[in-house]
Amino acid sequence: MEARHDVLVVGAGCAGMRAAIEAYDAGADVGVISKLHPVRSHSGAAEGGINAALGNAGEDSPEKHAFDTVKGSDYLGDQDAIEIFAAEAPGDIYQLDHWGCYFTRNEQGKLAQRPFGAAGSPRTVFAADITGHVLVQVLYEQVMKRNLMVYEEYFAWRLVVDDGACVGVICWDLVSGGLKLLAGKAVVLATGGAGRIYRTTTNAYACTGDGMAMALRAGAPLKDMEFMQFHPTTLHPSGILLTEGCRGEGAYLINKDGERFMARYAPNALELASRDVVSRAEQTEIDQGRGVDGCVLLDMRHLGAEKILSRLPGSRELALTYAGVDPIYEPVPVRPGAHYHMGGVETDVWGATEIEGLYAAGECACVSVHGANRLGGNSLMETITFGRRAGRAAAEYALAHNPAVATAPASALADAERDLTQLLDRDEGERPWAIREELGSTMLECFGVFRREEEMQRAIEKVASLRERYQRVVVEDKGSVFNTDLTQALELGYLLDLAACMLQAGIARKESRGAHARPYDYPQRDDENFLKHSITRWVDGQPVLSYKPVRITKWQPTERSY
Ligand code: FUM
Repeated sequence: MEARHDVLVVGAGCAGMRAAIEAYDAGADVGVISKLHPVRSHSGAAEGGINAALGNAGEDSPEKHAFDTVKGSDYLGDQDAIEIFAAEAPGDIYQLDHWGCYFTRNEQGKLAQRPFGAAGSPRTVFAADITGHVLVQVLYEQVMKRNLMVYEEYFAWRLVVDDGACVGVICWDLVSGGLKLLAGKAVVLATGGAGRIYRTTTNAYACTGDGMAMALRAGAPLKDMEFMQFHPTTLHPSGILLTEGCRGEGAYLINKDGERFMARYAPNALELASRDVVSRAEQTEIDQGRGVDGCVLLDMRHLGAEKILSRLPGSRELALTYAGVDPIYEPVPVRPGAHYHMGGVETDVWGATEIEGLYAAGECACVSVHGANRLGGNSLMETITFGRRAGRAAAEYALAHNPAVATAPASALADAERDLTQLLDRDEGERPWAIREELGSTMLECFGVFRREEEMQRAIEKVASLRERYQRVVVEDKGSVFNTDLTQALELGYLLDLAACMLQAGIARKESRGAHARPYDYPQRDDENFLKHSITRWVDGQPVLSYKPVRITKWQPTERSY
């Protein structure tokens, strides 16, 4: 056994680091496992901000924040979780502030707040347009201050479940090679999203759904996997994010005729309608021939150089570098791009999964705060609030747990070694990259902003054939040191399994709700039949679907308009 800890946290982005800090502060001995150095985590790519009802830029309250989130979720969010989230968010923001997050301030010296989509009040706290970067740095300082053990560049491959409880993680050591068994009395998954299922996405290469797939294979259910958010402003062709903060600061969306087309789709909220609404509007403009080379245009020119340079410097730099366009002088071509998974490992409001000792938080989890459509700025907040809660619960479980020292069966490591040797010994077969490319294109074409029955069916068949081909995948690099050929092959396995879950849940949801839009056969939301969460379990290597009710506390579903 490589090491033992009370709590193992897998993933070192905002949710993972926040969970680790809390678990340590609750008295646990903590180990953090990450396939990247923590400050390179994808949380660092979050740009526009983090939502909490501070009321610094207009009247606001946790109640309003909760209602906006429920409405934004198209009533699929669990309202008990949303109420906790909105109520605890302000305290969590002040703690980040006290830890040294250099959030942008307003003229009174208070934390500035900018408008974001579908928010009834300017609620998004920000650090210019590099908010995630700032959070990651500050959280890492707190991790270092506590001297937490970080297993950097450890690729988590399998959870160890013994007698119904999660007791450890099997990892591939990227730096020196070899499988390592880390034992933990509790394990918190905080591995982020799976945007790399799509060929273009705002997500980093690391976002391959590792935690979701590991939990699924270990027996924990996933929830609402059909709901993938398409962010309205991603750069063409890279898919890099241009923050919603641009529209929050007043940027317009225009079509090829220079028309602010959102007036036809969301006459009140315009560019600040919820993301599902804006992405559908853009896609409609593009599909109906009013786009520009497969994009619409984000126009910031009227904001002026000073505002762009002070509030949106990162966005300008991204547009200059990756699109060759200076937003001070020209509109930037943008289009909807795969951005955020509302679904994930099903948890309760303390991050507990169905497997004893296994917790999850952040994008890899589904608690569910976001339902069918997440509001911009709510994901960073979720990583902090539910990361903290999961860390606390995991520590309490671990400290109350016998035996005094974490143990995991050595046979789990032997099984993993046997399977890995089988993969590495294979010399003939198919290389992973072609399968990965076909998966990404299929998902983009068939499971995007608008979904058609026949395309989803085609994608289901295609993914089944890719999964079949994956059985014969060949890893050419047989070496130990930084064998990314191996880890990318393992990641591809995660992506394929998750795609199968998403498509099965998508084709079965015969309605349009939030990010799941079926305008050609089921254009309306259907509360009578589908006000329920999809639940996916993994049985004999295949997804099996069932449903669970949505938890409603005080807001009955009504028609949504912006
Ligand atoms: O547009 C953005 O800055 C993204 C924020 C988010 O996804 O919450």
